Amino acid sequence: MSQKKATILVTGGAGYIGSHAVLALQKAGYEVIVLDNLVYGHRELVEDVLKVELVVGDISDRTLLDKLFSSRDISAVMHFAAYIAVGESVTDPAKYYRNNVTGTLTLLEAMVAAEVKQLVFSSTCAIYGMPQQVPMTEDHPLAPMSPYATSKRMVEQMLADFGSAYGLESVVFRYFNSSGANPEGLLGEDHNPETHLIPLVLLTALGKRESISIFGTDYATPDGTCLRDYIHVSDLADAHVLGLEYLLKDGKSEVFNLGNGNGFSVKQVIETARVVTGKEIKAVERERRAGDPPALVGSSDKARKILGWSPQYSDLSKIIAHAWQWHQKRHT
Ligand SMILES: NC(=O)c1ccc[n+]([C@@H]2O[C@H](COP(=O)([O-])OP(=O)(O)OC[C@H]3O[C@@H](n4cnc5c(N)ncnc54)[C@H](O)[C@@H]3O)[C@@H](O)[C@H]2O)c1
Repeated sequence: MSQKKATILVTGGAGYIGSHAVLALQKAGYEVIVLDNLVYGHRELVEDVLKVELVVGDISDRTLLDKLFSSRDISAVMHFAAYIAVGESVTDPAKYYRNNVTGTLTLLEAMVAAEVKQLVFSSTCAIYGMPQQVPMTEDHPLAPMSPYATSKRMVEQMLADFGSAYGLESVVFRYFNSSGANPEGLLGEDHNPETHLIPLVLLTALGKRESISIFGTDYATPDGTCLRDYIHVSDLADAHVLGLEYLLKDGKSEVFNLGNGNGFSVKQVIETARVVTGKEIKAVERERRAGDPPALVGSSDKARKILGWSPQYSDLSKIIAHAWQWHQKRHT
């Protein structure tokens, strides 16, 4: 019988990216405990699909965290738990600073107290703000344009300071647009409300929405619509295992972009979805939205070089096909 490796606490493991990371950890032989308050997560994915231990609770519950860390032999934490809606963070910033920043501070303090000193953190390319060059590298200036992005910037700063003061080592991943779904159809994206382009397009294909909006058709891009970097969620999940293993081998704190390196336009996404689904998918052209950069594309050379990460699904059709398989199963 193969021996289980270390035990990893995954916060937000009932959510979209966290659940894929749990699966990747299981496949790599790790023991996993999920901590999720289920405000946005899906209990059945953890209990029935992944079949791992679910602790229903909040990252800001210090008593619960102390109990978890003292009763279980947890080696490291993967921290996905956060609120993620950029627009909502503008109208209700308190919600974002309380959950994403104060909640994370509580988690970090509990980790240090328990001497659990390795953490993989979900950050975002949104902390770069308007791109000054594309593809963006990790040394691009940071200029977050929403409370959501600022909350991630603040946690990155806390991690740097906790590293210097308490020896907490972290791998920070700045994701570009996480997309797609587990290729076997086990897991996928189910946000409520949904704000991401590919699921919105597919919900339109399923008849759950009347049309998909294209915000701005006069950008300086090949077809006038915004370019984004869509990275397959299973590739993200694999990077998390590599990041964890880097830390477990005494790697020092590092920040990595995780992107596909290719920009796809809004029109390309819709057109590809039409081909993949065989559905018409009505699109409506609208005015630009404030604050949308024309192109957001990342360089992930650093993750490839240092972690040996090699994403498998850079093809947009494949990303959309996997998401389509999941959405059909989930919504029909
Ligand atoms: N989806 C993307 O494209 C994207 C891009 C960049 C960064 N990220 C980051 O990746 C992480 C995961 O994103 P996602 O798309 O999987 O979101 P998600 O909403 O699907 O998952 C987040 C999970 O965290 C849980 N959660 C939230 N606050 C919590 C708290 N205080 N205590 C315990 N659990 C809590 C939610 O219930 C949910 O299950 C987030 O930190 C997000 O900011 C996502």
